[in-house]
Amino acid sequence: MFGRVKPLDAILATAEKKSLHRSLGAFQLTMLGVGAVIGTGIFVLTAEAAQKAGPGMMISFIIAGFVCAVAALCYAEMAAMVPVSGSAYTYSYAVMGELVAWMVGWALILEYAVAAGAVSVGWSGYVVGLLENLLHIDIPDLLVRGPFDGGLVNLPAMLIAGLVTWLLVIGTKESASVNAVLVSIKISALTLFIILAVPVMKSTNFHPFAPFGFGGIGAAAASIFFAYVGFDAVSTAAEETKNPQRNMPIGLIGSLAICTVFYLLVAAGVIGSVGANPVVDVHGIGLEPGSPELAHQCAAIGDQAVVCSKEALAWTLRQIGWPMIGNLIGLAAGLALPSVILMMMFGQTRIFFVMSRDGLLPASFSKIHPVYNTPHVITIITGVFVALFAAFFPVGLLANISNSGTLFAFAAVSIAVIVIRRTEPNRHRPFRTPAIYVTAPLSLLGCLYLFYKLDVKSQLLFVVWAVIGLVVYYAYSRSRSHVGRGLVEVHEADADIPPQPVPPLA
Ligand code: ALA
Repeated sequence: MFGRVKPLDAILATAEKKSLHRSLGAFQLTMLGVGAVIGTGIFVLTAEAAQKAGPGMMISFIIAGFVCAVAALCYAEMAAMVPVSGSAYTYSYAVMGELVAWMVGWALILEYAVAAGAVSVGWSGYVVGLLENLLHIDIPDLLVRGPFDGGLVNLPAMLIAGLVTWLLVIGTKESASVNAVLVSIKISALTLFIILAVPVMKSTNFHPFAPFGFGGIGAAAASIFFAYVGFDAVSTAAEETKNPQRNMPIGLIGSLAICTVFYLLVAAGVIGSVGANPVVDVHGIGLEPGSPELAHQCAAIGDQAVVCSKEALAWTLRQIGWPMIGNLIGLAAGLALPSVILMMMFGQTRIFFVMSRDGLLPASFSKIHPVYNTPHVITIITGVFVALFAAFFPVGLLANISNSGTLFAFAAVSIAVIVIRRTEPNRHRPFRTPAIYVTAPLSLLGCLYLFYKLDVKSQLLFVVWAVIGLVVYYAYSRSRSHVGRGLVEVHEADADIPPQPVPPLA
């Protein structure tokens, strides 16, 4: 079962051919992390976390941040040692064999594509709020919310997913300078929020602190975990990093620490200024975020609770007397969130690309566009699915489903990093996970705990997805696998630099 291992030397030979210039320092890495991480999680899911945990969501942010930090340290060792595309999929292939790698790759589809859908829905919430509040254009809920959320189809979310797909097909990559601008926009928006909301906090709003006990805090942590996802962007830049042993942990832990501090202050600002009490049914039971029941109950109270808002931060500012700044926050989210969608979809297409190049997915998936030099086929297929997820599902459910896949991948990496320390102790490691026999088990346990605290729907969907994955593997991929057929390939170019198309014969 674990027999089909892809030789690490072949993987590393591909990496050597790529030989990117080592130019990134600790600061750029931290910016890269912050750029990939801050998104729909804090801007939108804060409302969902409040619905699950009340003010206790502050503890949820700390729990989720801690699990990500230990997972990040495991990721970093693998990423620095095996610096090629495919992240957790590639590491697993080298360490635990093809079946585990396939399952991880299959789970990463949830992490990236479903997350891109979630961020698209988050973007839609802010842009619709902006149009309604600034320009007084009232768009019917039917066209801006999915069927589980009191509407029919989320058209703006579909639109942004389509636009980002197009950008990826024509080969858009976010440059460091664009990333720096977007990071500044996001940081400024959150800072402004904190400056205005924190001074008007009332301590009474923090009582009761945990209306649904620790169970609620754990459930909110499992959802808000989404707010930290994306830091793997830092570890995948390992081969472009100067002095990775020093800069990698600074970049990873630094970006997570910055995000955690911002998240805690923003959460405190929301709770303290407008209150974060969950909306409950007649029996006092908290209603499920993204459910028709909650949408109905929110409509009944005129959406007068932050947990009802699709644009929690802008809504809060409007409530405390800063409507124009609220709109400005909406504008910031509208400008900055598409780059998070872009990074997620980019990650997805590159995972598909590598899986297709390994023979596990159809070869047509890794076809390169003759003009744009991008894997356009797989980008368009990804885009269609992202747009459909975004059109019909609520943001919280998409985020939770995405989390289930991410947690699986993180857990696999936490195991892989220990296994390979044992099997290949002498291999060169530009970065070593500190206290690995504590860090990796903590990461594994943390992932298991958060998975356990996800809602049952997301857990079931994950299981169904995994079963479909197994069927596809045994029906299609196993017999076509290049490793299985004895082909050991060293590629001229890595997947994030698609190979040049073959020139036509003269
Ligand atoms: N962490 C990213 C976000 O919150 C995925 O949007």
